[in-house]
Amino acid sequence: TLPQTILAIESSCDDTAAAVVRGVPGAPKAQVSSSIVFGQTELHAAFGGVVPEIAARAHAEKVDLAVAQALDAAQTDLDGIDAIAVTSGPGLIGGVISGVMCAKGLAAATGKPIFGVNHLAGHALTPRLTDGVAYPYLMLLVSGGHCQFLLVEGPTRFRRLGGTIDDAPGEAFDKVARLLGLPQPGGPSVENAAASGDPRRFALPRPLLDRPDCNMSFSGLKTAVLRARDTLIADQGGLYRQDIADLSAGFQDAVADVLAKKSARACEEYLSLAPDTPVLCVAGGVAANQSIRARLEDQSASLGIAFVAPPLALCTDNAAMIGGAALEQMSMRPADGLTLAARPRWPL
Ligand code: KG4
Ligand code: ZN
Repeated sequence: TLPQTILAIESSCDDTAAAVVRGVPGAPKAQVSSSIVFGQTELHAAFGGVVPEIAARAHAEKVDLAVAQALDAAQTDLDGIDAIAVTSGPGLIGGVISGVMCAKGLAAATGKPIFGVNHLAGHALTPRLTDGVAYPYLMLLVSGGHCQFLLVEGPTRFRRLGGTIDDAPGEAFDKVARLLGLPQPGGPSVENAAASGDPRRFALPRPLLDRPDCNMSFSGLKTAVLRARDTLIADQGGLYRQDIADLSAGFQDAVADVLAKKSARACEEYLSLAPDTPVLCVAGGVAANQSIRARLEDQSASLGIAFVAPPLALCTDNAAMIGGAALEQMSMRPADGLTLAARPRWPL
């Protein structure tokens, strides 16, 4: 098969992204020629979370520019593109529609095929794009909106082994940051504060670790931080810098502990498939956390499993992963055509 050049668009949450990816359909690894991401953090900052209406408007305003810049940075134009890929779900419907409309317009104008890609498949297939990891591999997807173990058996074959039953870890980091008066996004600021903290000062819960499955829970942990904070405030009239550091460290340690131990559980199921070269992969914004990454790496090493974490820019939301997923999938399924619909809910 000949190499194909894909123009990809992603707009399912609070990043407007476009990318150009080139590779042989179905083959491991592809070239990311460009990857443009416009964040919306400042637009939502005053509201303490992503506001769907504001996100949708910003996507509609920025998506054409993202596409133009992605083509430019890849030193190509629409004539140099073989197919268009777009996140068609799951996500905030207004944003997904902005991307899908833009992609359909480009497909209609150029006559090129269009592929709707599942956002979660994009994350899950990123290790194929970046490292050429062989199927089947185990993926821990941990972001602000998602937390699940996926057995990736092929470009369109995913088995969910378990996941959070309430909050995603990134969401918990963001809420804990708010509780402690730290800036958003909470992940980096909690990690920063935790660096000078004692993780053992507060005994925080590790929910569901006693259960033999791969499910997790993080909302009770966040509530435990809230209670510890309120007790400190009642006892001493406020929070000191060291209290914030210790609570951050305790919280981060508990999340790392749960993710590492549940990974061991997921690895057991994965290893029962007897993969030739077992690999645990991680993706999502929380994978940026150094101590969580280190715990997962140690856990895999102790099980004799390789650990792969794609570069951070491809772990968080981006369009290159959508182009990569389209390349993986296009050799085994037909294009979608101009009737492609945006799907707010779309389990893998
Ligand atoms: O994958 P992502 O960019 O967006 C989606 O949620 O899809 O992930 C963003 C999440 C936020 O909740 C953010 O607080 C968290 O990832 N995050 C981190 C760190 N950096 C970002 N969590 C823990 N430690 C970090 N260093
Ligand atoms: Zn995502």
